[in-house]
Amino acid sequence: MKHKGSISLETDRLILRKLKEDDAEEVYKNWTSDDNVSKYMRWNTHKSIEETKCWLREEEKNCKEKNYYTWGIVLKETEELIGSISAIYRNEEERYEIGYGISKKYWNNGYTTESLKKVMDYLINDIGIKKFVCKHAKLNPASGAVMRKVGFKYIKDDYYESFDKTKKYESKIYYLDID
Ligand SMILES: CC(C)(COP(=O)(O)OP(=O)(O)OC[C@H]1O[C@@H](n2cnc3c(N)ncnc32)[C@H](O)[C@@H]1OP(=O)(O)O)[C@@H](O)C(=O)NCCC(=O)NCCS
Repeated sequence: MKHKGSISLETDRLILRKLKEDDAEEVYKNWTSDDNVSKYMRWNTHKSIEETKCWLREEEKNCKEKNYYTWGIVLKETEELIGSISAIYRNEEERYEIGYGISKKYWNNGYTTESLKKVMDYLINDIGIKKFVCKHAKLNPASGAVMRKVGFKYIKDDYYESFDKTKKYESKIYYLDID
């Protein structure tokens, strides 16, 4: 395996690129300030743009590591930054965990599936990662639909908590293993 980091990727309709602090206004407006997007996420809705800036600074720092993968999702047609997608290594599971979220106004247009297909192609075929995990709240079936469309297989029920432990969700765990 040779890690290359979150280099820019392209699909028919999207550019996937690193996030930066300068993106804060668009990120806050489009998804981090929206309860609909944060509802089943480990993070809570951002109450101010400062919280978004802080997260983006952290992402910029982490993305300097070649084995850390997070991209902003940009619509080619309008250059709008509409969401993010990540693959973060989880020591306890020895797998890369996939996460994603996009602005509510763009849900159900196939953008997350299109992003995830490209990310998986890159991580599997260019980097050589073989083990992935993805978890979604039972009350959030759209996320499971995306996972299945790229080949994730249901493994078991579980639960996960928000970072601050104020939210707890019954969840479904999916794996994707490359032989
Ligand atoms: C989950 C999320 C990322 C999906 O993004 P998206 O760009 O709308 O996804 P896509 O359009 O690629 O695919 C959505 C699929 O879910 C399906 N879907 C939507 N609502 C659904 C529902 N209530 N029940 C079952 N399936 C549903 C759609 O039909 C579609 O599948 P199809 O193409 O086979 O018809 C988006 O809803 C989101 O950002 N949610 C908030 C953040 C979040 O929950 N992230 C996941 C955390 S695990």
